[in-house]
Amino acid sequence: MHFKLVYMVEHLRKMSHRIICQRRCTLTRAIVMILMVVLVLVTVMNYRHGHSTTKKENIPAKLPLTTCNMLNNVGQHVGPNNHDFQGNLKIGRKVLILVDSPFSKNAKLIVASMESSRYPYKVIDNELNMPTLTHSGKGRFGVIIFETMKLYLTLDSWNRQLIDKYCVEYNVGLIFFMKPLDEYEVLSEYVKDFKFSVHYNVALKDYRLNSGSKVWRIIKPGEVINETFPEEDWAVFYPNHSSIQPIAYATQISSMYDDYDPNNVDKTKTVFPAVLDNGDIDGIRKVFFGHNFSFWLHAMMLLDSISYLSHGKLSLGLERNVQIDIDDIFVGAQGTRMKKEDVLALVEAQGRLQKQIDGFRYMLGFSGWYYQHGTDEENVGDEYLLKYKDHFNWFPHMWRHEQPHKFTEEELRKNMFLNYQFAQERKIPVLHQYAVAPHHSGVFPVHEPLYTAWKSVWDIRITSSEEYPRLHPSWGRRGFVHRGIMVLPRQTCGLFTHTTIYKKYPGGPERLEKSIHGGELFQDFLYNPLNIFMTHLSNYGNDRLALYTFECVIKFVQCWTNLKLQQKTPMEHAIQYFDMFPNEQDPIWKNPCDHDKHMEIWSPNKTCDKWPKLLVIGPQKTGTTALHTFLSMHPLVTSNMNNKQSFEELQFFSGNNYYNGIDWYLDYFPKLNNASVEMLFEKSAGYFDSSRVPKRVHALLPNVRLICILISPAKRAYSWYQHMKAHEDPVALNYSFYDVITALDTAPRQVKSLRDRCLNPGIYSYHIENWLDYFSSRQIYIIDGDILKDKPVEVMDRVQRFLGLKNFDYGQVLRYDSKKGFYCQIMSDKKNKCLGGSKGRQYPPMDPKSEEYLSQFYRKHNIALSHLLDKINVRLPNWLEEELNSGKT
Ligand code: A3P
Repeated sequence: MHFKLVYMVEHLRKMSHRIICQRRCTLTRAIVMILMVVLVLVTVMNYRHGHSTTKKENIPAKLPLTTCNMLNNVGQHVGPNNHDFQGNLKIGRKVLILVDSPFSKNAKLIVASMESSRYPYKVIDNELNMPTLTHSGKGRFGVIIFETMKLYLTLDSWNRQLIDKYCVEYNVGLIFFMKPLDEYEVLSEYVKDFKFSVHYNVALKDYRLNSGSKVWRIIKPGEVINETFPEEDWAVFYPNHSSIQPIAYATQISSMYDDYDPNNVDKTKTVFPAVLDNGDIDGIRKVFFGHNFSFWLHAMMLLDSISYLSHGKLSLGLERNVQIDIDDIFVGAQGTRMKKEDVLALVEAQGRLQKQIDGFRYMLGFSGWYYQHGTDEENVGDEYLLKYKDHFNWFPHMWRHEQPHKFTEEELRKNMFLNYQFAQERKIPVLHQYAVAPHHSGVFPVHEPLYTAWKSVWDIRITSSEEYPRLHPSWGRRGFVHRGIMVLPRQTCGLFTHTTIYKKYPGGPERLEKSIHGGELFQDFLYNPLNIFMTHLSNYGNDRLALYTFECVIKFVQCWTNLKLQQKTPMEHAIQYFDMFPNEQDPIWKNPCDHDKHMEIWSPNKTCDKWPKLLVIGPQKTGTTALHTFLSMHPLVTSNMNNKQSFEELQFFSGNNYYNGIDWYLDYFPKLNNASVEMLFEKSAGYFDSSRVPKRVHALLPNVRLICILISPAKRAYSWYQHMKAHEDPVALNYSFYDVITALDTAPRQVKSLRDRCLNPGIYSYHIENWLDYFSSRQIYIIDGDILKDKPVEVMDRVQRFLGLKNFDYGQVLRYDSKKGFYCQIMSDKKNKCLGGSKGRQYPPMDPKSEEYLSQFYRKHNIALSHLLDKINVRLPNWLEEELNSGKT
């Protein structure tokens, strides 16, 4: 191109020279000459322009920052309303949501909003019975949401009265969304009850909020949404009583309402697309939204309405901790990295953000090996990052950006140490307690060597990941603590390594704009008390998309909300986070084999063939050892290897072993020769009655089969007492069985503890219900313990059918042992005792007083068990039938 231009200019120059030198300057010649000069100039300019556009690709596009009227009129805003109630409020911190269908888009969005806010909630769909609204004189729910107004209006009168009475008595409010097209007919009939009329299918523009409303807390009203909302979606309210007040306004631009005349539209007419009923008439406060939940502002309006109607019982705080991590510092292909100007722009942007986020500093995650691996310009960029190093906080990423799950602890330590040395030599101000693993590898699913190496090289105490429990849905991300390292949830802001040019944003720049202006990115700020955002070096070079994105979203947050943004140290973030959500400290292990993304970051040495397919869950003293022995005799069934402390029982899901993580658990299972036909199983008899076990098992082994054995709960209690006595438990030795089971709550702690271990597992219905909260009844097989004792071969045949196993003839391997009084495996070695010495102990029969006491104690629980078994189509055990028939229960 350059060559062509030089040639052309030279050619023109020669021609004009010839013309001028011939001294025959006629007018025509002069014109031709002028034209040529113009032509040359245009060509040169075009060339320059063309040349500069190529160059311009490296210059970030000047993008329009979010505009905000409010920020220019700060004086007008009165600040957040306080919803706290001064009187005696007897309501729970839970939301009841009534939906047409739990699968409708609107219902899902409302549920997602509850999950994001971490509000406890219960969803009831049309088909289900109304839950009990009160418990021990307290209201269970702080607010009730109806997915559609129609749902409330068409409730049978009994349930509607029940809800109204509850709301009046407990001072609880209602929230309604609208689905105008569907609701039209129903609403016109009933809506008079509400002291307003409704116009449907209205098109709106200039949506804005009533600044004087008491409902707003997070919301800072004052902005106008300069958008047009189509008519098929919206309804507006016309109050006819002073109890109804607008909380939002809009300008009506059309209507499909009956008397609507398109030629006579008052385009300045202000209408109310959301109203508050103060409850002056019926004592129930209500908020009505003239649209469904898909309108972005409704997310905020719902949060504030919940806070207002629950008297602050369900309210999110106004403080938001923010941290922006820049991963991959020094990493990145040539041509995508930061240059000197980008570093200077980063420093400048940080200065601007510091005015909006108290204590703000970018967090730079570095991989030292890549230092000076860019183009000449980018290498200067690297130097500038170090020149300005004290402006930022730094954290280690990994020396060569390695994925930790692929390495041993020793290798990890070596690599980490190189990064450590790099930082030392260059005096990089590293925050030693925080680190991030490339691709989240090793953090979750947990790769134990990473945790150990991190601690030993860097003394890491905090990390963040987007993978726990998994990437999607993003609102479900949570934190956990493992081996003393606090893992915080991390948010993806939509900027990845390759997202570097605004115009080429995946799905178009409108997608990014939507996310910023009320969409996903904005909602991260709205819901999460802590946001650790993940960005990359490349998002700050090229178009500097990350600078634009965050400046816009933070401006938008300030424009629309009363949220106070601040940044603290990672340690302070972590402590505050787990103080707020103490339940999250306990991890819930998920199965990496159920999730492709997790398989990618799970060590290649690990296998999905080692998970047990069956758990014998107990309860203790019902014959679980016998069942374990019999199952292990099956040629295709293998149990775990013994544990030093608890022998054949791993007690993984119930006790502290759970904190050892899944690698620990898997190490106890042997590798099978043919995993497709063979089956691994585990028996831990304490699983049955431990309340946290079903949830943990379901998270890790959702398809597992479960077996429990039921014997008379009184017999079981006595057997446990005898078991403890045989183990010389001081309480069992010094207190009679009767004294133990009748001990009061004022008794010594150890006595109460033995009492509970005797009595609680026998409340079978309660524990089975807990399991049924997570597993289908088809996954659970219930054995009558008496039949297992008397006819084990028959029971084992049924067990094999339940497990889909190739039939094994137990008649050939089990014999009745008259000394023990039950069946044992035939053993060649006479010294080997049948089922071990501890089974089949002789002890005196239970005293009549205890028998009577236990019969009373278990009466209602046994009746509940019979109902439950009927419900799930399980034949009642003989002992239960007998007890029910004998009138004992
Ligand atoms: P006792 O110790 O009261 O005799 P677990 O193995 O779950 O701890 O249960 C032990 C109880 O199971 C023992 O209670 C024992 O009677 C009973 N049991 C032992 N062998 C059995 C067998 N072959 N079939 C059924 N139950 C058996």
